Amino acid sequence: MILTRRLLSCVAAALLLTNSIAARPAYFDPSLPIDKRVDDLMSRMTLDEKIGQLNQLFYIAQFMKPEMIEPGLREGKIGSLLFVTDPKTINRFQKVAVEQSRLKIPLLFGFDVIHGFRTIFPVPLALASSWDVDLVERVQTIAAREASATGIRWTFAPMLDIARDPRWGRIVEGAGEDPFLGARIAAAQVRGFQGQDPASPGRLLACMKHFAGYGAAVGGRDYDAAYISDAELYNVYLPPFKAAVDAGVGSAMSAYMDLNDVPATGNAFLLRDVLRNQWGFKGFVVSDADAVGNLVTHGFAEDKADAAARALTAGVDMEMSFPGGISNAYSNNLAKLIKEKRVTTAQLDEAVRRVLEAKFKAGLFENPYADETRAASMHNNPEHRKMARIAAQRSAVLLRNEGNLLPLDPKFSSIAVIGPLADSKRDIRGSWSLADDMKTAVTVVEGIRAKVRRGVKVEYAPGVDIARAYPSIFELFFGPRPKPWNEAQGREEFDKAVSLARSSELVVMVLGQHEEMSGEAASQSTLDLPGRQRELLEAISALGKRTVLVLINGRPLDISWAVTRVPAILEAWHPGTEGGNAIADLLWGDATPIGKLPITWPRSSGQIPIYYARNLTQEPESKPGFKSRYWDIATSPLYPFGYGLSYTSFGYSNLRVSKATAKLGEPVEVTVDVENTGRRAGEEVAQLYIHQRSGGASRPVRELKGFERVVLAPGEKKTIRFTLGKTELTYWSSATRGWVQEPATFDVWAGGDSNATLQGKFQITQ
Ligand code: BGC
Repeated sequence: MILTRRLLSCVAAALLLTNSIAARPAYFDPSLPIDKRVDDLMSRMTLDEKIGQLNQLFYIAQFMKPEMIEPGLREGKIGSLLFVTDPKTINRFQKVAVEQSRLKIPLLFGFDVIHGFRTIFPVPLALASSWDVDLVERVQTIAAREASATGIRWTFAPMLDIARDPRWGRIVEGAGEDPFLGARIAAAQVRGFQGQDPASPGRLLACMKHFAGYGAAVGGRDYDAAYISDAELYNVYLPPFKAAVDAGVGSAMSAYMDLNDVPATGNAFLLRDVLRNQWGFKGFVVSDADAVGNLVTHGFAEDKADAAARALTAGVDMEMSFPGGISNAYSNNLAKLIKEKRVTTAQLDEAVRRVLEAKFKAGLFENPYADETRAASMHNNPEHRKMARIAAQRSAVLLRNEGNLLPLDPKFSSIAVIGPLADSKRDIRGSWSLADDMKTAVTVVEGIRAKVRRGVKVEYAPGVDIARAYPSIFELFFGPRPKPWNEAQGREEFDKAVSLARSSELVVMVLGQHEEMSGEAASQSTLDLPGRQRELLEAISALGKRTVLVLINGRPLDISWAVTRVPAILEAWHPGTEGGNAIADLLWGDATPIGKLPITWPRSSGQIPIYYARNLTQEPESKPGFKSRYWDIATSPLYPFGYGLSYTSFGYSNLRVSKATAKLGEPVEVTVDVENTGRRAGEEVAQLYIHQRSGGASRPVRELKGFERVVLAPGEKKTIRFTLGKTELTYWSSATRGWVQEPATFDVWAGGDSNATLQGKFQITQ
């Protein structure tokens, strides 16, 4: 009897299943090719449902309620949500979309997974300082694993804006000033996020941003217009984006600012000519937040409807905005625009198709939900934390180490850790750390306490407090900082720190900037250390104690005072969740610094912009008797691009070029020997620079065209090989308005930074 009942219920279940499969439209059939599925789905969609797919809205749990957006989800008016990071809420919204909306089209959840999700890795500028593309790929693989477990399937990363102005706060989000390094890091990030297939478990759809030229904001003021010549655009600003497209990046975000007076979000040259026609990009484009509506603010579009028409026809497929916010230009205007024939159905369909294609490719129709148990296992994951520690060790740059103060002698028995950032969990993580548990981050004080042997006294004093003069837009997430100290408190804390330093054998000063002093809307007029930090450093240095300066920051700062007075300086950037442990590892020699600056470090803000790949004109530095072009400071930067010390030293010799003369298009091989000339094992980033001596246009004095990591035991020597092919020797010329490779003599240098002196040359002939 029981058996028969079971059998019956099995048959009933099977029938139900067959029925529901039969009832499901063809676009749910995963065996069909994606274009067929999109065709089928689009043939069933109303105009409003199509427009809905182009509508992406913020959902910020701190000040919104699910009921605010659920009706829109049910009616198919929203295609994507961003900023939902809780798997339960994601599943709740997804359920409405896939069970209660007419066509059951799943939502695509996006978030800024920039340098980690639950586990925070070093900020992107720091990761770029590792010059370790495998590391970058592995880090983004973990970030993708953590975020995708939550139900997020799309990250607004990598940020690929070349930045040559450290006043611009978003310099922290990119890979620095150089297109060659930037391109290698861009491709590594895309591979890390997307793997072979963004739909596979643990992967995310990547979104390269901000397309393009955002890093060149006038005066370093965030969102300001950029004026970039075509030659600079093609040779400097676009290569990382091109590399991401070649690596298969699935989406792109249009930038906020005007590029040569045409807003990037309404810029058909960028979004159609370059991205689609020249590069063959197949993914979809989303606007930056409210950037479509803001075409009116730019003085470009007449009103929101005009803005929607211009953005869509220029090539922005999806609009990112706030529910009921200032933009919503697509959702409020596209139907009318179609009716008035200002936008054609074909143009609308093209955008909808791209968005749906991405959803099918991401496997959302088969797999719409987050696995809440898997999501929970991503909190405090020990494997991920291990990687975060390694990444932080490898991202730090040793700027100075007089008398080999570092690594520290374990015999110090009393240590003063001083500075407003030394024990700050919030600041160790850096900008865009919005989904982690801040409590689990390790500060420098905690890292040092865990490192030193028993009986060593480690004491902490903040000494000074620092604050933004104007609040940050991100205070929304963490609330405002504590009130600044009053004058009396300030004096007392300052004195306390100085007397703690006086009574200690070793001083570790941890100075720099709060995490929200870099990032979006965090431009800065000078590179000065905020608050009274320099004064504190001067007062403590005057004590004559052994002093190490650790910098926690997201941009180069004016440290010219310190570089002649403080014996050891370690640039740790915002190193992430495991930052404090990694810094302690580096200070005590359990890890060796291997980082190199991905950006030229100015002496002061007056030198900005300053970058190594500049053109030489009248009165070059190489002229005999050259002193400086400034009358008040040296022309050279404080530290050159590519610079970074180690606990050992490296020697370069024997630079060979495979042929003295090569024909256009033929590759040239350059080899160089790198030797560990110190007494500790170490790792070096061997760098290769070229200069084209003549041509149809002036070329930069040096350009990075190769780098290789090399691990060496003391006394060990290895030969490194670089290939300079057609790609490396080609540039975009303003003389011919196109890509050229020209017959010319080329200088080539190999070494440990962009001032490398070991030189060779070769000639390219017709
Ligand atoms: C930023 C983007 C970011 C977006 C969503 C914007 O303000 O410019 O980089 O992806 O917000 O958070």
